[in-house]
Amino acid sequence: MIKRRQFLRAGLAGAGAVLASRVSFPLAWAQSGTADSRIEVLVNEPLGTISPNLYGHFTENLSGVVYDGIWVGANSKVPNIDGIRKDLIDEMRKIKSPVVRFPGGCFADSYDWRDGIGPANRRPRRTNFWAQGETPEAPASHRYDPNEFGTNEFVHFCKLIGSEPYLAANLRSLPAEEFYRWVEYCNSPAGSTTLSDMRADAGFKEPFNVRFWGVGNESWGCGGNFTAQEYAVEFRRFATWVPRFQPRSAPESREELSFIASGPNVDDWAWTRGFFEEMARKGRFQLRSIYGWALHHYAWNLARGRTRDWIQGKGDALKFDAVDWYELLHEGDRMEGLINGHWQVMSEEDPEHSVKLVVDEWGPWYKPGSEATPGDQLEQMPTLRDAVFSGMTLDLFNRHPEKIAMANCAQLINCLNSLYLAHEDRFVVTPVGHVFSMYAAHQGGQALRTIFSAPTIDYDRDGKSASFWGLKGSASVHDKDLTLTVVNPHVSDGRETQVVVRGAKIKATGATVLTHSDIHAHNTFAENNVVAPKAQSVEIREDMLSFRFPPASVTKLSVHLL
Ligand code: AHR
Repeated sequence: MIKRRQFLRAGLAGAGAVLASRVSFPLAWAQSGTADSRIEVLVNEPLGTISPNLYGHFTENLSGVVYDGIWVGANSKVPNIDGIRKDLIDEMRKIKSPVVRFPGGCFADSYDWRDGIGPANRRPRRTNFWAQGETPEAPASHRYDPNEFGTNEFVHFCKLIGSEPYLAANLRSLPAEEFYRWVEYCNSPAGSTTLSDMRADAGFKEPFNVRFWGVGNESWGCGGNFTAQEYAVEFRRFATWVPRFQPRSAPESREELSFIASGPNVDDWAWTRGFFEEMARKGRFQLRSIYGWALHHYAWNLARGRTRDWIQGKGDALKFDAVDWYELLHEGDRMEGLINGHWQVMSEEDPEHSVKLVVDEWGPWYKPGSEATPGDQLEQMPTLRDAVFSGMTLDLFNRHPEKIAMANCAQLINCLNSLYLAHEDRFVVTPVGHVFSMYAAHQGGQALRTIFSAPTIDYDRDGKSASFWGLKGSASVHDKDLTLTVVNPHVSDGRETQVVVRGAKIKATGATVLTHSDIHAHNTFAENNVVAPKAQSVEIREDMLSFRFPPASVTKLSVHLL
């Protein structure tokens, strides 16, 4: 592993110090010590409530995600609750997991929900959407879906961890009637329909009351290769007249079903515009049938402008240099422009913004080779870099609470930006998992406008100068408890920072810091505590906080206000 010190020697030395002189501070600041950075939290400038659902997850029936990751089976020696891995349940309770998306992803548009209900020993085996990418050594369940984990098991998992289920319906290969029936199976009252009786026979008499329904996934690609206009027509057909079981007059009926339409890949503005225009062509009221517009953005291209090829452009999860570090963060940071950009395009037909954004797939995506369990498809090893990436992304979501209704990190376990890795009886919390635990305090909080001033990071991108911001984060408040999360992306320089809370007095504070001296640091089954959050004290001086944000770190400051 290359230590951070070696990067200093590799040419980045002193960059922060030189750049620090560019930031100018008022006199009082200059006199108050050696700070090179400043954060101002504006308690009287609320931005909106941070939906807990911004901290959601995504679990696709893909390789080791479900079979091995989540589902071990009730007869397994691996500690489990009704077949579901117990370690996973325990950890997800700790992070207050609000919502989980299932069964895909691309898998969703090849899935027949009926295969996954009824007595387990009578469920069919089906070829998994991802079968072709499996190695010959892969467990049979990864190639041929045994359907042991279906709707009942998924909803039960959600109940055990205190999350809401978000089911993605198959729009490519099932008729709209099957969407109708799946909703009926999940939500029709006990004893009311044949499908509710089938649910009761499986031990689930009471309705699941599934609120969130994806209508197709990536319908521009694996979900059917539609044009935006064609997909809008399909969406209208699927979303029209789906059964609801609350009387229209009941206040809950408005939120009984929330449909999420398959939105754009990254910056495909034409997909957003085409869909909204086609929906509105039948009258803008049609847009009211949509709760969320799904945006997908993976940070994958680390080729520094050399190629846009999906295979060639990817970087390595573990072998990277400082430039790759910044490039990955740069790719991920595009998210803010995507949120603002799509929001703007959506407003052309939806000026009142009745439709919100749902970022239901996000995270870094590397080339194969770093799997904790060799052979697991799309599995990668999250490092400190991915923790910083994840903190940065969650902060970015917190800063747009009025636009984003939900976000789902891709994917929960044994996959891309995983919070957990598991194989048989082994289980480990990754640095990404620790970030979710630190950031849980933001859920349901009032987001506050916060101003970050820090030296910009300049780096050499193969002979051309490139830059990245020096310090960013987000703040929220619950009553008198303020949470400020901050990312320092610099690989070698800490940021001496003065934190001012405007509009309130500070009573007490503490910090939780996630960092490591090696930017490649990660947790493995054998060494599971290499990257872990640590508590640190914070100095309060003249109503200001002084804190040094270490290089390559994610920090949470928990501040009690008077
Ligand atoms: O998360 C892996 C895949 O990425 C999902 O199945 C798909 O929706 C996306 O392209």
